[in-house]
Amino acid sequence: MAQQLITYFNRFKAFVILAVAILLTASASIFIGDKAEAKTFHTPAERARLHEMLQTLPTDTNLWFGGSGKCAGCHGHDPAGNAFITSTGEDVNIADAWAGTMMANSAKDPFWRAKVSHEILVNPGLQQDIENLCTRCHAPVGRFEAEYTGQMPYSIAAMEQDSLALDGVNCSACHQQFDTLLGRNFSGNLHYKRKQVWGPYTDPFTGPMQFFAGFTPNYGPHVTRGGFCGGCHTLQTNTVDLSGQLTGQVFTEQATYHEWLNSQYSDTAAATARSCQSCHLPRITDPVDIATNYPFLDSRTPFGKHYLVGGNAFMLKLMRNNMSAIGATCQPENFDTAIVRTMRMLRDSTVNLTLTEANRTSDTVFFDVRVLNKAGHKFPSGYPARIAWIELVVMDATLDTLFASGLPDGNGDVRNRDLPYEPHYNQITSSSQVQIYEMVLGDVAGNETTVLERADTSLKDNRLPPVGFTTSHNAYDTCIITPDALGDTDFNRVGMTQGTGADEVHYHVPLAGYTGALNVSCRVWYQSVPRRWLGNMFSFSSPQITAFQNMYNAADLAPELVAQVVSGPIITSTQPVAQPQIRMYPNPTANGQVQVSGLVNSDLVSIQIFDLTGRLVAQPSVNNFDGTIELPARGLYLVAIETKKTRIVQKVLWR
Ligand code: HEC
Ligand code: HEC
Ligand code: HEC
Ligand code: HEC
Ligand code: HEC
Repeated sequence: MAQQLITYFNRFKAFVILAVAILLTASASIFIGDKAEAKTFHTPAERARLHEMLQTLPTDTNLWFGGSGKCAGCHGHDPAGNAFITSTGEDVNIADAWAGTMMANSAKDPFWRAKVSHEILVNPGLQQDIENLCTRCHAPVGRFEAEYTGQMPYSIAAMEQDSLALDGVNCSACHQQFDTLLGRNFSGNLHYKRKQVWGPYTDPFTGPMQFFAGFTPNYGPHVTRGGFCGGCHTLQTNTVDLSGQLTGQVFTEQATYHEWLNSQYSDTAAATARSCQSCHLPRITDPVDIATNYPFLDSRTPFGKHYLVGGNAFMLKLMRNNMSAIGATCQPENFDTAIVRTMRMLRDSTVNLTLTEANRTSDTVFFDVRVLNKAGHKFPSGYPARIAWIELVVMDATLDTLFASGLPDGNGDVRNRDLPYEPHYNQITSSSQVQIYEMVLGDVAGNETTVLERADTSLKDNRLPPVGFTTSHNAYDTCIITPDALGDTDFNRVGMTQGTGADEVHYHVPLAGYTGALNVSCRVWYQSVPRRWLGNMFSFSSPQITAFQNMYNAADLAPELVAQVVSGPIITSTQPVAQPQIRMYPNPTANGQVQVSGLVNSDLVSIQIFDLTGRLVAQPSVNNFDGTIELPARGLYLVAIETKKTRIVQKVLWR
């Protein structure tokens, strides 16, 4: 077998320490260790402080909805230390977990604020429609209160004065959705019931919540279904041409829910079933008291931890560094927790990365890189700015770089990234090519655009589909793959069978005559807000754009590491084509001697013996070679024989 495996599946955990070290050097001021996560075993003093912390969340209600502070009184940190404590002592209170997430900060998000103003500056005539639309999902409980009480249109100016709207996707925004139309309501066409709250448990004890908060808890199995998230996680926009006229076309900007429908996870009857909730609100079976002050109530199980994180560590860090400027109502600790959880989500649950050496000839080494998507939707998914890419670096024995595709530069940007965008690749043959998984929006003229309302087509969408994704699924039209990737025979398929959820990229690395050991590393990077995506927005000016631009320029722009495999020095084999077969035997050897056959002595260039770390341990003379190789000691070696025609490497064991 010429195929030689280098480093494998699930090795990733072994590299976490290295990954942490890299982040430490790249962003020491930002890196937050495990300790920052919600702590267990609080002392009474800590409990009192934690309880105080929740007081900064808005406690008001309007006619339909409530602020998160209202709910936190009973579903936040328990000063008595009874509720929301697991059997291992972990504090899983809901308000604390939620408060530092992107959803909790969706209306304060300075990128979102800047983008709304950008869209309006491009098409001032559409201001009212834009503000009405953008607030649907980002500031829902202000926006829908206005709709239900006849105070439309809703505006950003109204939102800025509305503490409930600023509370973002809060408890009410999710839990007050009723089940009619769920899974069929998109683009923020949400359906709420006035002061009714649904949860996963049968027969809730309704008295305290009704009496003290004015909200009624109800059992609603729909809370645990994908459609509960689908209303906001599917977004179609009405396309506008370059002069600001509606074209009558719609464009699907985000389809995370449809991508999930088109995956092995959405079939609830299958063993592979996984809801959005099961990944984003990880369930525990420990019995948990779900309301403070009511210790007489039975504990509930299973319990969904409100982690609610995805991949946007970058914006969480940016907001953490600008808390007063954005008007944050949570505590720095809440952001810290969400940042750590996001980075773990990216590193532990997002992709499997495999690096295989396929072949080596005298002038080229061939690597296959396979990236398997483990998320429940495309990776990346959601907002079209998101990108993920592959870095492959090949170095010689002295660590001089022979080849490097996809290295991030000092600004966190992808080096050598083409304008306007990098094509999808099946083969990469030069350092100037990079495999980037992304969606690129095109306007009516077919040019790349980052103006959301101008989006008319996707010029490129090679984001990695989830396992089980097919082009024949009835949701495919909302989450297409563009032809470049569709034509790639190992992108989401093996032969004609679709749904692998993986892509294989074939690297041809020119060696320019170098025949020694190689050091190879391969990484997958993720970036939620790449600088290039902001170029058009930053060419406009408004208070919101300037504010965000300043925060962005001061931020640590290093991309997030998702996976990496690093091999020590490796010796790779060439495939002798129509050459007399060189063999080494016996293997294993009992006495340390190995015979070599099929060799023409006058062709012999070198014999090298390496240990498994790639260290050269012996180099027998090739003058008057008598056909016998002596191994230095018991153990496993790689013996490399180079002739004028070929080079072979074989593992040889002295037992
Ligand atoms: C249907 C619901 C919905 C509507 C309507 C909506 N968004 Fe969003 N938006 C989202 C979701 C969901 C995300 C996050 C997806 C992700 O993380 O990938 C998001 C993310 C964003 C982001 C990225 C934020 C960040 O911090 O990275 C920006 C910018 C944004 N939206 C702008 C807008 C603008 C402008 C409008 C109005 C034209 C709008 N959105 C309307 C659901 C919506
Ligand atoms: C993004 C939507 C979302 C938001 C925001 C949200 N929840 Fe939940 N919540 C859920 C889902 C989904 C479940 C069901 C979890 C499961 O059983 O898998 C749940 C479960 C619960 C439960 C039952 C116990 C549990 O955790 O399983 C309570 C109580 C609850 N939520 C209260 C709140 C409060 C209070 C807030 C605000 C601080 C909040 N939720 C914010 C989606 C949300
Ligand atoms: C005065 C205390 C109190 C307040 C304030 C309060 N709740 Fe509750 N909540 C409770 C109690 C008690 C239960 C029932 C617990 C049980 O039956 O195990 C409950 C149950 C729930 C459930 C689970 C329902 C089910 O059947 O699964 C959800 C979800 C919930 N509350 C959300 C909220 C939201 C959202 C708010 C804010 C608008 C809120 N609560 C405010 C005390 C409160
Ligand atoms: C009311 C609308 C709404 C609902 C319902 C909703 N989301 Fe979101 N979600 C958003 C918006 C808006 C954002 C983007 C916030 C931003 O970036 O400013 C978002 C962002 C996210 C993110 C990205 C976080 C990150 O760090 O990258 C995840 C994950 C997510 N939502 C999961 C869920 C899940 C799971 C559910 C269902 C249990 C759900 N959402 C229900 C509106 C919603
Ligand atoms: C099998 C686990 C799994 C399931 C099921 C799942 N997700 Fe995710 N999700 C992830 C992982 C891992 C990430 C981080 C990688 C990424 O950004 O795609 C993520 C990221 C996200 C993001 C941020 C995407 C981005 O790149 O900005 C959103 C939004 C989101 N999920 C929403 C949802 C919704 C809504 C559902 C259900 C329709 C869902 N997820 C189902 C695992 C899952």
